[in-house]
Amino acid sequence: MYRVGILTASDKGAAGQREDLSAEAIREIIARLGWRVDVYRIVPDDTEAIKEALVGMADRDGVDLILTTGGTGFSPRDNTPEATRAVIQKEVPGIPEVMRAESLKKTPRAMLSRAAAGIRHRTLIINLPGSRKAVVECLEAIIESLPHGLDILTGQDGECAGHQNNRKI
Ligand code: MTE
Repeated sequence: MYRVGILTASDKGAAGQREDLSAEAIREIIARLGWRVDVYRIVPDDTEAIKEALVGMADRDGVDLILTTGGTGFSPRDNTPEATRAVIQKEVPGIPEVMRAESLKKTPRAMLSRAAAGIRHRTLIINLPGSRKAVVECLEAIIESLPHGLDILTGQDGECAGHQNNRKI
């Protein structure tokens, strides 16, 4: 069972002016995997606030996976990918590539999400867009491979060979 953190970046959400339906959607999908959401935070769209929250969840709370929602678009206040890149050591481009590729089948606006993903020490951080609909579509597109990725990242599994769905075998 992995421990998950949810970080919502939203000026309106942080001010209590918007219900956080996207975080709720993340919880529902994560529950299906039997994983536990240990930490939930909502911060304004400030780069420093997002960075501080990501570092706290990864280093202090020690969650295995952080899913962010919001702040991946073109608005001047959309800063989540930049905050994420500032705190990761390794980028994981395949995850946002798949999210955008699958989302493009649903809406051409999928290309407008600048979502990033990467690894900070032993924590995987993945940006999701802000709307509940986009969160569900993006998370459903990647969820299948997350357990294996986290198994490798956390050292619970040392290699990829022999896994079901591994096309090399
Ligand atoms: N991805 C999916 N799967 N479904 C969507 O409806 N909306 C797009 C895009 N990605 C969308 C999506 C839109 S309209 C925008 S502006 C960007 O995500 C950025 O969203 P954000 O600023 O809320 O992060």
